Amino acid sequence: MPPTATATVTEVPTGPTPALPTHATVPVPKRAPPSPTRAKWVDDLERDGFVVIPNVVSEDVALEFQEEALRWLEKFPYGFKRDDRTTWDDAHMPYSQKGGMYNRYSVNHEAFVWKIRTQPGVIGAFAEIYGTDDLIVSFDGMNASLPINAQHGRVDIEPVPAWPHIDQNPRRIDRFELYQGIANMSPNGPDDGGLVVMRGSHLLHERHFAERGGFRPEGDFGPTENSYRFDAAEWEWFKKAGCETVKVCAGVGDLIIWDSRTVHWNASPTGSQIRFCSYVCFVPRAIATPAQLAQKWKVFEARKGTSAFPHLNSCPVDRDRAKFPDALPLRPDGSLDPCHTGRPFVDPEYTPALLRLVGRG
Ligand SMILES: [Fe+2]
Repeated sequence: MPPTATATVTEVPTGPTPALPTHATVPVPKRAPPSPTRAKWVDDLERDGFVVIPNVVSEDVALEFQEEALRWLEKFPYGFKRDDRTTWDDAHMPYSQKGGMYNRYSVNHEAFVWKIRTQPGVIGAFAEIYGTDDLIVSFDGMNASLPINAQHGRVDIEPVPAWPHIDQNPRRIDRFELYQGIANMSPNGPDDGGLVVMRGSHLLHERHFAERGGFRPEGDFGPTENSYRFDAAEWEWFKKAGCETVKVCAGVGDLIIWDSRTVHWNASPTGSQIRFCSYVCFVPRAIATPAQLAQKWKVFEARKGTSAFPHLNSCPVDRDRAKFPDALPLRPDGSLDPCHTGRPFVDPEYTPALLRLVGRG
């Protein structure tokens, strides 16, 4: 449950302990300034709050990811088989969110997920933004969403309704803090699910909250979390402010990047294709403190997943289960999944590229 304290957009949280993040203690990644040599798409990203960069991962690597993701689902003892449509339901699959977002069971550290994080094209895109390739990466999850319809997919769930949100703390939306990425691993058209954004919304939060008199406590997840959910009235405000709603479409191997302040949600696939992607998020290593880097190594060695923020070491499995009941993966009846072992099926190789992105290399 969100906290009950009220706050305005300009409030700097004081909180009960000095460890709570504030404007002063949460560093901001420095972006490379505009220049004649900077890629044009960075301008688009800064203006629109999102961008699609084509062909950063080869088709071979993307197809391998698809195969490994399906194989991963089949490794659990719940009976999922890609070729048997009667097993395409929650009862036969491991725990996911929103019909196919996987961020539990240490999937974050499966070798096939690390392979995408260490792709030179993916790293290179974030290096272009920040003007350095000395980066660290989040231990985020992957998505393998089966289409939802009687003809091609699963029928046990309905498409996810829009859940407009930002992945940044509403106390600090007056500034850029993070770019998030989706490495798109399957053809992704209008009916194939995926990221939906409100173009330009990343630059309107101060105005929005100023007009409202602050953010809603019910949409807030607390001073230490980077998340805010908008209600219908707030969502309407952004529409009236002229933000176009865009279902972001992308080709195999494209990289989608968006500003964490951009209002967004995920749409379910309703066509004939499975949606495959991996969430990738990098920041310059320089913004992490030595203590954060040391903790990051511990998180990696414990094979825990994290939020999108690579330097904050916020791990879903460490969350208070009273507030976050699915901190650990659950079975459909709500019981803890005994298949949560805290280790991936296939460990990643400790390559120089991996070690560098963990902050060790
Ligand atoms: Fe999000």
